[in-house]
Formats: sequence, structure tokens, C-alpha cells
Amino acid sequence: MGSSINIRESRVKVIDEARQGEATMGNATPENPNGKLLYIESYGCQMNFSDSEVVASIMSKNGFSTTKDLDNADVVLINTCAVRDNAELRVRNRLTEFKKRKSDNPNLVVGILGCMAERLKTNLLEEEQLVDLIAGPDAYRDLPNLVEEVGSGQRAVNVLLSREETYADISPVRLDTGGVNAFVTIMRGCDNMCSFCVVPFTRGRERSRDPQTIVSECVDLFNKGYREVTLLGQNVNSYRWNMTSKGEVKDETIQTTNFAQLLEMVAKVSPDLRVRYSTSHPKDMTDEVLEIMAKYENICEYIHLPVQSGSTQVLARMNRGYTREWYLNRIAAIKKYMPDCAISTDIITGFCGETEEEHQETISLMKEVRYEYAYMFKYSERPKTLAERKFEDDVPEDVKSRRLNEIIDLQQEDSLYWHKLQIGSVKKVLVEGPSKRSEEEWCGRDGRNSMVIFPKENFERGQYIKVKITECTSATLKGEVVEVLERNGLSPEFVV
Ligand code: 5AD
Ligand code: SF4
Repeated sequence: MGSSINIRESRVKVIDEARQGEATMGNATPENPNGKLLYIESYGCQMNFSDSEVVASIMSKNGFSTTKDLDNADVVLINTCAVRDNAELRVRNRLTEFKKRKSDNPNLVVGILGCMAERLKTNLLEEEQLVDLIAGPDAYRDLPNLVEEVGSGQRAVNVLLSREETYADISPVRLDTGGVNAFVTIMRGCDNMCSFCVVPFTRGRERSRDPQTIVSECVDLFNKGYREVTLLGQNVNSYRWNMTSKGEVKDETIQTTNFAQLLEMVAKVSPDLRVRYSTSHPKDMTDEVLEIMAKYENICEYIHLPVQSGSTQVLARMNRGYTREWYLNRIAAIKKYMPDCAISTDIITGFCGETEEEHQETISLMKEVRYEYAYMFKYSERPKTLAERKFEDDVPEDVKSRRLNEIIDLQQEDSLYWHKLQIGSVKKVLVEGPSKRSEEEWCGRDGRNSMVIFPKENFERGQYIKVKITECTSATLKGEVVEVLERNGLSPEFVV
């Protein structure tokens, strides 16, 4: 895969070291009476990284500090992904690496969390002799008990899925070192049943989190210096909170909050708090959301709208609930409200029965939309899914790879096209910190989610600057700072 394209698969390959930060090493503290150390490794989607922060919080209340040093850890938890076979393979390889550590230190507790834990359940205990603990995505409150059970010589499992758990009251321990961007989970689970996807089986039914707790978390983040929140859910557009909670709606009109309303509530926290969200399902992307996005300067003009395929027939087999035309109509609506909005997508190549013509339809859709970025994958059959039960995984591996390479090449051209268009323009950038290449160059994102590199000077993380773009690659923009913007505080209604 091309290295400069924003491909989620390649991001997943490396455990995000940056996110393992904020490590508290060693000894007992008042909050950490027994001084135990927890090492968490996260794979997969942003939701998993966000969940790991909830796990760190639950464990910290029970005497565990997080460490980024595996050698000192008393408990190792791996938050796993089950979305494609290679994601699971990666975890299995990692588990084998842990085998040695476990033989050196028999007291080391190794646990598997997340989607793979939920999918494989107790099978993991039998298959991988070194796993002591298994907890599914809705069982994290039980982790301290599970760790204790392991301590008393048992193997511990909780893979119960819940219709209510949103961890709404838990204040996540931020594991990234940057202190500028944070994930805020607004809903969990998925009710969509796309035929290729294992998530409805691993993350359970869709449920939304109380909007007041979401806004409070965002205010708290702002007060701690964060300047960007990404609202997370498997399908954020179907966010819906009923005041009476647990589904008993007395009066729909006054008692519910939908995603557009939630976006507005969060946008009002401060003009200096940038708001992003992920992921949208095209079938639920309403004009109301687009109107709110266009209305608030601090809601970033960037939408991730996974298409999966450009062929209406393939979309039907995928059970996506929309056609090619419907999807293109949503793209037109986005451009109507926000002509400059950046759009990214997810695409699967080689889904069951995908013909050459159907693949060409994906290519023609990509040419029509011209995505800013794309996350592109080969279809990977997942046990229990509708597709596994109904269709044959009949596109040969070499054809899947060839089609994937074709769309990657096309995407690289499009990413470069968009970046070239930005040369000469002035971008509002939120300063994040040193760039990957050099301490002398810092980086931050513009509202369209492009990474912008600029000379370090005396800028601080969390500051807004204006950068005139002078050069680009398909992965980044580069420029010179032309203005440093005044800072804004919390909106008055949130100041206590
Ligand atoms: N095979 C390949 N890609 C998949 N995705 C989800 N399930 C599969 C699968 N079985 C991709 C989709 C989704 C993204 C998160 O992962 O494109 O949007
Ligand atoms: Fe992986 Fe999907 Fe689970 Fe996220 S929700 S961890 S991408 S399987």
C-alpha cells in the first residue's frame, strides 16, 4: 500500500506509542495505594483507543497506574480488533511474544479486551494458553474483579453484551501525550447489520450516551487545555437520546436529542473547541447535520462517509441500505452546504461476487467524488456475518489485491490533487506539536483534516495559527505562519 495515503490498515500496524503516554511509573500514591502497573496496547479503530482510556480510568480507581514500559507491568491488556482477519493475526503474533514474558514472570496477568475477545470468547483460553483474562467491550467495569479472580488462580471471562452500558459517568484517563485532541464516545454498538461486518456481533446493540455527560466531558477537556474533540460512534448519525432514557419516550418532540442537536451543544462549548466526528453512515446523513456544520466555524468541514462500493448491486449484497445514486446525492448535499468540505471514505475491494464491471463502478464513483483520503481494504470474510452465511468469498486473492492497488493508486492521485489546490491559500491550523520528521518543524491540522507542517518558532500546543501553504505531498501540506490568532475561552454559560 502507498505509504503516503491515510490508510487505516497501515496505522493499525504499529501500536500507537504516542497513545501509551502519560505513564505514571512505579510507586504507591494516594490514588494508587497498591502501586500496580497496567500496560494497555490498542489495535483497530478510534473507538478502541477511546475504550482503552475508559479501561485506564476504571483500573486507576482500583490502584493501577498506566505504564508504557511493558517490562514493569503487572497487568497487560490488549484491546483488540476483529474487523479483518489480519487484525486478529497481528494480535495472535503479539500474544506469542508475550509467552516468553509470562514464563519469566508467572504473576504477569495477560488479558484480551475488545472485539476479538467478544468474538472468540472462551475459545481464546483454550487456543492461547497464555491468556488469563477475557473481557468484551461492555464488561470493562468488571475488570478489577476479573484481575482479582486471576490473582486467586482462576481464569476470568466476562463477555456479556449490554443494551445500556455507555460508560457515561466514567471520566477517561487520557493516554495520549499531546493534550490537544481527544476522543469522546457518544454512542456504542451498531444496529446496521452490513453483511460483511462483525461489529454488530462484537459490540452489540446501538445505544446513545446522555448528552449532558458528553458536554460536561468536553467542557472538562477544554479546561484541561484540549482544543479538539472527535465525537465517536459506529454510526454517529443515528445518535438519539431519550430524556426518559432506556427507551421510554413520553414525548418525542421535546425529550429527544438527535445528532445535529448534540453537535450544536458541543460546538457551543467554546469557539476555540474544534469538533469532529466519526463515523457517519450515508443512509443516516441528514441535511440537518450539514446545516449545523455549516453554521458553526468550529465544526470542522470534514466528513468521513464510508461508501464501501460504487456499485448499487454490491451495496445491496452488502446490505448497506443505499444505492450509488443515493450516496452521490448525499455528496451533492454536503457540497451544497459546505462547498469546501473535505470528504474521506472507506472502500472494500473484492466483496463476494464483485465483477470487473462492479469494480469499475467503484473506480468511476471515486473519480466522480474525488475523495480527499480513503481507507481501503480487501474483503476479509468474518465468521457469523450475513455474507459468510449467504455468499461465497469467491474473488481470488490476486484479483482482490490488483483491485485494491488500482484504487490506492487512484486515491493517491486524488489526495495530491486536493493538496495541490491548497497551495497559495491560508489555513487555520491547530498546533499539535513536533512533526514526525524534525523537532524544528511543528505540525497541526487544518479544518479539512490535512496535516500542515510549519517552522517551530515559539508556538504552543493548542494554539490557533494561520499558515500560508507553499508546498505539498499527497500526505501533507507545508507552509509559513502568517498570523497567530487570539485565544478564546469557554462560552460564558459554561464558566462556573
Ligand atoms: N473486510 C474488509 N473490510 C472490512 N471493513 C469492515 N468489515 C470488513 C471486512 N469483513 C471495513 C469497512 C469499514 C471499516 C471500518 O472496515 O470499510 O467501514
Ligand atoms: Fe475493530 Fe470494528 Fe471492533 Fe473497532 S469496532 S475494534 S474496527 S472490529
